Amino acid sequence: MKADLAERFRPVAPPQVLDRVYSDDQYNRLVGVVQDHGPWPMILAHHFKSPEEVVATSSGEVPEGVTLTWDPFLNPVFRGYLARGGVCLYPEIEDCYHNPEFLAKVRAYWRAQYAMPESMLFNISGPCGGGGSPHVDGTRFRGLNLDSSPVWLLNIMAKSGLFKRWQAKKAQVIAWYYRGRIGGSFTYWPDGPQNPPQQLKAPMWGKAVVVENEMMYHTAEMNGPSAMRKPEGLAYESRIGKDMSGPGWQIMNNDQVIQQIPEEEVRFLVHWGAQIFMDYDELKVSLDHSDDLSIDQAFDMLIADLRARGETFEVPTDPISDRAFIRLLTRAYDLGKPTIFPPDPVEDMIAA
Ligand SMILES: [Fe+2]
Repeated sequence: MKADLAERFRPVAPPQVLDRVYSDDQYNRLVGVVQDHGPWPMILAHHFKSPEEVVATSSGEVPEGVTLTWDPFLNPVFRGYLARGGVCLYPEIEDCYHNPEFLAKVRAYWRAQYAMPESMLFNISGPCGGGGSPHVDGTRFRGLNLDSSPVWLLNIMAKSGLFKRWQAKKAQVIAWYYRGRIGGSFTYWPDGPQNPPQQLKAPMWGKAVVVENEMMYHTAEMNGPSAMRKPEGLAYESRIGKDMSGPGWQIMNNDQVIQQIPEEEVRFLVHWGAQIFMDYDELKVSLDHSDDLSIDQAFDMLIADLRARGETFEVPTDPISDRAFIRLLTRAYDLGKPTIFPPDPVEDMIAA
């Protein structure tokens, strides 16, 4: 059963590697927005309200009677949104978002007639232990998306395979800027989580992939000197911002700086995402909402499926925040994690 669920997690086509997808001018404007509008919260703080939700998204089970804390999940990777839906939030980078070259690339990737920019965000970090465990990105369904539903629920829905009729077809162009000497590659499992991964090797400056990250397990490789990967005092509330007095960046708890990050250790990723419509009929049913899914319908279908699988449980009054029910869903639709990894990066032991 686990293997059957896992077998479905392959992208629609093999990822395509590209080079220099943004011009120097576009890159400078993207970084300018990040410098001018920070500080920025951790990825974790954007998406999760409890540690159980993290587990539900990344896969795995929480043992009975165990109370989770944030600490094992704290990883100093920070995020901000550059666009929401059809709107670019910063006019100076509108050309990066409404990007005809990217649209052509993702249409070709899917062999589809239409594509629409849907999201643009960045991740920025200094040395860290990787961008979380291998995961698939939150998908959307006709009627349910990140604005109306938590990412863990959307991922459980994707893992269950019950909602394909409503699941959006998506593609991303993801670009990296990282000149550090230790790690920082992009690791991905294009042949499913039970098969060996591939890596887009760092250092990389403007290198990118065209992918379907909702259906492909992936993660960032750990990067930077190991002694700097988890700064003392790192908390759920920590933020990153430009160090206005020098070339680097800094992680802060309110006004207190807990880590200075030299420019050469900064890893910056720009994630551009589009929704794909194979043809005019598929576009139309999305626009006229004639076949939308509701959150109640989604929970009804999950509950019916759990019953069909022989699970016994009480139907929660508030399933979206019921920790026991989240644990049940996590266990029932656990695909298993990838088990084959590239070797860890080797630290350069030569003294500078
Ligand atoms: Fe991801």
